[in-house]
Amino acid sequence: MADGSFPFTTAVESATSDVWDKVKAHVTPLEWRLQAPLIAEINRLKRAKNAVILAHNYMTPEIFHGVGDFVGDSLGLAIEAARCEADIIVQAGVMFMAETSKVLSSDKKVLIPDPRAGCSLAASITAEDVRLIKQRYPGLPVVTYVNTTAAVKAETDICCTSANAVAVVEAVAREWGVDRVILLPDEFLARNVARQTDIGIISWTGRCEVHERFDAADIAELRAAWPDAEILAHPECPPEVIAASDFAGSTAAMTHYVMTRKPRRVVLITECSMADNLAAEAPDTEFVRPCNLCPHMKRITLESIHAALAEERYVVEVDAEVGVRARAAVQRMIDLPRPAVAARYDLVRARHHVDVELI
Ligand code: 13P
Ligand code: SF4
Repeated sequence: MADGSFPFTTAVESATSDVWDKVKAHVTPLEWRLQAPLIAEINRLKRAKNAVILAHNYMTPEIFHGVGDFVGDSLGLAIEAARCEADIIVQAGVMFMAETSKVLSSDKKVLIPDPRAGCSLAASITAEDVRLIKQRYPGLPVVTYVNTTAAVKAETDICCTSANAVAVVEAVAREWGVDRVILLPDEFLARNVARQTDIGIISWTGRCEVHERFDAADIAELRAAWPDAEILAHPECPPEVIAASDFAGSTAAMTHYVMTRKPRRVVLITECSMADNLAAEAPDTEFVRPCNLCPHMKRITLESIHAALAEERYVVEVDAEVGVRARAAVQRMIDLPRPAVAARYDLVRARHHVDVELI
């Protein structure tokens, strides 16, 4: 259309009716008249251009259910990017995820709908910081959370996500024959990992601006208001939040928990879209919804995804030499034996009370 909008036709309505069923709890009929044609047009462009959309669990429901070809946590999306055969990858997520896709699929065109979609963790540390840390702790392996720039990953030995952090730390310590590991840059993830392993952890003071805002008082209030609710928290939350919860895990681990255990009532201590998306797949579970929005994830919209595909913008570039080294760190994580990678991160029954050493 000349004005950039697309009509809500009966063809669009029927092509998107299954999506409407999943999003109607969050989208008004009036909004849907604008969103449904965009969803249909994005899906048409994907087919025409042999493109796929990798959508993180924190995308809003109309993106998650309407246009995501692969949806999941950071680990799942990285694995998909590595095996992807499309010509174009559109990253419906934040910049560090798009960079990870680019380093794993350097021959593909990787697009991010809004290049301002950053992350407080990725912004907390630079490659120069990591070089200085390595000088200070020679002989210790450096594990970086995937929530970092490609330049930071390039300085490190192996990556991890919240789905596999304990397993990665233990695997790299065994391989190097050391009893301490540097785990960057999330202080809370590091503290939560330290409670689950005998390996000593040295970390940094980065924090997720979404998860750091939950505290133990929030959990106590929820327990008082909803005594039968099962409380699931993301490992980027402060350790006292994790200790007061029933389960901790990545966004995919939370999905797995709800889909397999089918709790009657659940609280997800994480970003708001997580419960919105999962509720559509788990009709027998009631979701109590305290949540915090990630302003970076929320920069990605149907409109910006459409513009990204139509105009093939914004192309994500990673310096070739940086990309090769960053890829090695991510690939080492992906190549870990499946049982180690699949190990679920169940922090609540923590074995240890040792704390991390912060740099
Ligand atoms: P996961 O999906 O890997 O749990 O990560 C959560 C997150 O904060 C990503 O930005
Ligand atoms: Fe970064 Fe936290 Fe937002 Fe994830 S939720 S992108 S870790 S700020």
